[in-house]
Amino acid sequence: MRLKDCHNFRDFRRMAQQRLPGPIFNYIDGAADDEVTYRRNTEAFEAVDLVPNILRGVGEVDMSVTVLGQKLAMPVYCSPTALQRLFHHQGERAVAAAAHKYGTMFGVSSLGTVSLEEARKIAPGPQVYQFYFHKDRGLNREMMARAKAAGVDAMLLTVDSITGGNRERDKRTGFSIPFRLNLAGLTQFAMRPAWGLNYLTHEKFSLPQLDSHVDMGGGTMSISKYFTEMLDPNLTWADVEQMVGEWGGQFCLKGVMSVADARKAADIGCTGIVLSNHGGRQLDGSRTAFEQLGEVVDAVGDRLDVMMDGGVQRGTHVLKALSLGAKAVGLGRYYLFPLAAAGQAGVERALNNMRIEIERAMKLMGASRIDELSRDNLKFR
Ligand code: LAC
Repeated sequence: MRLKDCHNFRDFRRMAQQRLPGPIFNYIDGAADDEVTYRRNTEAFEAVDLVPNILRGVGEVDMSVTVLGQKLAMPVYCSPTALQRLFHHQGERAVAAAAHKYGTMFGVSSLGTVSLEEARKIAPGPQVYQFYFHKDRGLNREMMARAKAAGVDAMLLTVDSITGGNRERDKRTGFSIPFRLNLAGLTQFAMRPAWGLNYLTHEKFSLPQLDSHVDMGGGTMSISKYFTEMLDPNLTWADVEQMVGEWGGQFCLKGVMSVADARKAADIGCTGIVLSNHGGRQLDGSRTAFEQLGEVVDAVGDRLDVMMDGGVQRGTHVLKALSLGAKAVGLGRYYLFPLAAAGQAGVERALNNMRIEIERAMKLMGASRIDELSRDNLKFR
């Protein structure tokens, strides 16, 4: 399968599956428990129909949005995700460059495999820093200081991962970082020699955001164990309020799902929230972000920027979320499979497809600007 054969999410997923060793593919593709929430994330968009308007003069379409004080050329952004150099040797460098080319925001993860300073240089455009709050307060302070010094635009604190989700696919393969695999996992690696050669001939795997405090080199750790052992489950609203104050800039809380919590986020000074169930990878059975969106926008939409992620595979999914009042929509697996399939060229092709789909759908909806979309454009079944 080749890149030019990839026209949608499923195509990219298939191409990634052909190239990646099974344990890595399943790490990206998998989710928690029975993966019900993962499936429902995309299905939720199908419970709502678009109601188009006609004859509105849509020759010129402007799909730019402003979110967290950043102007984005398109209403989607690449959510920060972990371990990208495992998926393709270009890793975060590819995602940063592609996002920059398409004028949108991307984020470096605490578990990123390229330093946030380097990512900043590749993509001087809008950048968020995804923060995990560790038990080690010294590490937290250092991470904040580094992000500030690097000139990151917005802090994004993920709060849905204080303990590891039950990723049964990872258990089966033994997937861990840097790498330790059980026999079944190793066999799957042996079936992808091209990936192995590529991995071994590029710079050594590392986690530059955490290096100074966490020794990942010596041992190996499953992602679930990292969350459970390293992150602070005692994190409270008071801690986050303090962090918001210390950061003193755009601060976004990711993993908010309830209306009450959205209100609290606004009360402690957050400038944005991302409704998210972490791609179904943490709490299985959780409601979808899309289903919570309308209520949350009604409650706090005038106090902070409400974003969402989870299950987005099409331009029309994005338009549905924007019609409900989301300011922008995050992509995860949507760009990770293309990254795994073809590096930067893959991510660029995926973003280009998304741009074209959004533009086409806006024209068909009779909207030449994002703020012309409203709930009048939606009908729930
Ligand atoms: C995951 C984390 C690392 O879902 O975001 O695997």
